Amino acid sequence: MKKLVILASGSGSNAENIITYFKDRDVVQVTCVLTNKASAGVLKRCQRLAMPAFYFNRHAYDNGQLLKFLASQEIDFIILAGFLWKISEDIVNAYPNKIVNIHPALLPKYGGKGMYGSHVHEAVKANNETETGITIHFVNENYDEGNIIFQARTKISMEDTAETIAEKVHALEYEHYPKIIEKLLGNG
Ligand code: GAR
Repeated sequence: MKKLVILASGSGSNAENIITYFKDRDVVQVTCVLTNKASAGVLKRCQRLAMPAFYFNRHAYDNGQLLKFLASQEIDFIILAGFLWKISEDIVNAYPNKIVNIHPALLPKYGGKGMYGSHVHEAVKANNETETGITIHFVNENYDEGNIIFQARTKISMEDTAETIAEKVHALEYEHYPKIIEKLLGNG
């Protein structure tokens, strides 16, 4: 049994999709969800899904308490699903090639600090891109710069808005993220 933990800062639709995907697969266990935002929608989702979820603040993060918690859970992988803080160096070093992020664009384009969620889709639209997509990648000490594991693309038409681009990208995320995680864990 491989154990993973999900880190999320927002609505948590990807977190829910991953939890649901692995629910009936007894080779992978999502042990809990961790969030840095007390009002994050992901907490409500976890309540509905009966998934343990915990909030941590900046102080706990900066003082290595998150790392201690992760070690105590004996987890194999850390999955970022809309988690917006930079992963600290001590965590990156403790989990080499074991932390995975999803980014809602085709990296290296539209990555880096401040490039998250709707900001990404607005920038893609403003630049009249004809395609966008998702990037699943390992996490290193720099935002959105770790080795790329997987990308998927979707076309953008003139009629698309930042909102419809977001919908297309979310659809790709829901389709691919759980399957790529399963493969990485050696069960795909
Ligand atoms: C997702 O689209 C994810 O790719 C993005 O945040 C959204 C979270 O949605 N992540 C980033 O932008 C990271 N830079 P969700 O909370 O509904 O899963």
